[in-house]
Amino acid sequence: MSSQKTYRIAVIPGDGTGPEVVNEGLKVFKALAAAESIPYDLTHYDLGGERYKKTGEILPESVLAELRTVDAIYLGAIGHPDVKPGILEKGLLLRLRFELDQYINLRPVKLYPNVPCPLKDKGPKDIDFVVVRENTEGLYTGAGGFMKKGTPDEVATQESINTRKGVERCLRYAFNYTKQRAKAKKLTLCGKTNVLTYAFDLWERAFYEVAKDYPDVKTDYAHVDATCMWMVKNPEWFDVIVTDNIFGDIITDLGAMIQGGMGIAAGGNINPEGVSMFEPIGGSAPKYTGQNVINPLAAICAVGMMIETLGKGKAGKRVESAVVKLLESGKMKSLDAGKMGMSTSEIGDWIAANI
Ligand code: IPM
Ligand code: MN
Repeated sequence: MSSQKTYRIAVIPGDGTGPEVVNEGLKVFKALAAAESIPYDLTHYDLGGERYKKTGEILPESVLAELRTVDAIYLGAIGHPDVKPGILEKGLLLRLRFELDQYINLRPVKLYPNVPCPLKDKGPKDIDFVVVRENTEGLYTGAGGFMKKGTPDEVATQESINTRKGVERCLRYAFNYTKQRAKAKKLTLCGKTNVLTYAFDLWERAFYEVAKDYPDVKTDYAHVDATCMWMVKNPEWFDVIVTDNIFGDIITDLGAMIQGGMGIAAGGNINPEGVSMFEPIGGSAPKYTGQNVINPLAAICAVGMMIETLGKGKAGKRVESAVVKLLESGKMKSLDAGKMGMSTSEIGDWIAANI
C-alpha cells in the first residue's frame, strides 16, 4: 500500500450558528474521509467574537503562523451581536483572506432539484453558473480615510485599488476555470466601464489581452447593474462571471437567493498556490444559535468544495450527490432556518449516512 498524504485542516467554527453548521460539515467530512481512506488531522481554533470579548484577541500572530502551514481552512461564520460591525469582519475574515493571499472567491450559483426558486418559470437547468470574485483588492483594501472627521466639513474617501497583477491573476484563474468547467465555455466580465473608467478600463484591457491565450473561451461583458437584471431575467445566459471584490460580494448574495437562499450557498476563498479557506457564505445568524434549526447544507457543500480543491475531485462530488439525493427525497420541507422539517443535526446525519 502506498503511503497517503495526511490532510491537515484548520477548523474555525466562529460565531453564532457557525459552530452548529461546522459540526454537521465535519460529520460529512469524516464520513467521506473514512469512505475514501483519506487521512486527515483536524485542529480547532476558537477565533471569533467570544474570544475577542474575553481576551481582546482577534487573530494572534502565532495562530496566523500556524494557519499558513495547513492544507485548508474550514470556517463557520464570523460576526457577533455584541461586537461592533467591522471589527471581526476586517480583523479576522478579511485579514485571513488578505494574509493568505486568497485572491479568488469562488461562488457557485446552482439551483438543485426540488428547491423552490423565487424566479418565475426558472428551474435547475436555468440556474447553474459560477462567480469568480476577486478577493484581495478593490474597495476592500482599506485605502482611503477621513479628513475633518465629525465636523460639518468632513470628507470620507474609500478607494478601489486595482493592480494589473491582481486583476490579471484573477482573470487567468477565471479563464482556466471556464475552460475546464466546459459548460458553454463563456466568461462574462461584470464591471462598470461606463462610469468607473479607470478601474474597469484596466479590467477590460487585461480581460481581452488574457482572452487571447484562451481562444476556446467565449468572452462576454455586462455592466454590474445589467448583470443583476440578467441574473433575474435570464440566468441561463451565464456560465462563469468574473468581477471585482465589491461587485462580487453584491451579486453573489443575489445569486444565493436565486439558488434557494443562504442555507445552500457555499464559497471558497482560494489561493491556488497556497492555503484556501471554505465557508458557507451566509452570516452567523445569531438569533438561531443553539436551536438546531439552521440549515447546514451550505457548510456541507463547502466541505465538498474543500475536498475537491484538495485534489480529491471525485470524493468532493459525492457530497454534492448526497445533497441532491436529500433534496430529491422531499424530506426537507424548506431550505430556510426553522422551516426545514428536519433539524440541523438530522440533516448532517442524513448526508453523512448517504455519502
Ligand atoms: C462575504 C461577506 C464579507 C464580505 C463580509 C462579512 C466582510 O459579506 O463573504 O460575502 O463582504 O466579503
Ligand atoms: Mn457578502
